[in-house]
Amino acid sequence: MILVDTEEILELLNIDFRHELEATMMYTYNSFVIEDCDISRLTEAIAVDEMRHMWWLADLITKRGGRPSMELGEVEYVGEDIKEGLERQIEKETEGIEEYERQIKIIDDDEVVGVLRHIVDEEKRHRKEFRERIARL
Ligand SMILES: [Fe+2]
Ligand SMILES: [Fe+2]
Repeated sequence: MILVDTEEILELLNIDFRHELEATMMYTYNSFVIEDCDISRLTEAIAVDEMRHMWWLADLITKRGGRPSMELGEVEYVGEDIKEGLERQIEKETEGIEEYERQIKIIDDDEVVGVLRHIVDEEKRHRKEFRERIARL
């Protein structure tokens, strides 16, 4: 199925926008409490990438007459266990990658697909960075 309807595209972009908002919140908080310097600085830098993804998505949404949704789902912050925190961050990246790849297949809008492809490349890099940190623990 190919989606061309602007309303449907806006709904999908708002799902993405909320995921990016959650990732931004989660990583920002985690960067404050993770004691390992390298991992917390990496998490902080990636939080900034996620916020940049919010800007890109908000631009696509507003250009198509929509408004970005600031509704926040459940945000799981890191606890005492740094490995568990990184695993949760890796899951967050994987959820995003799967949703973006699903949308890229069904959205018939070159500009949107171009931005989603760019974001998905960055999410894959994030996941790789987190995986490398877990491997070193
Ligand atoms: Fe992102
Ligand atoms: Fe990411």
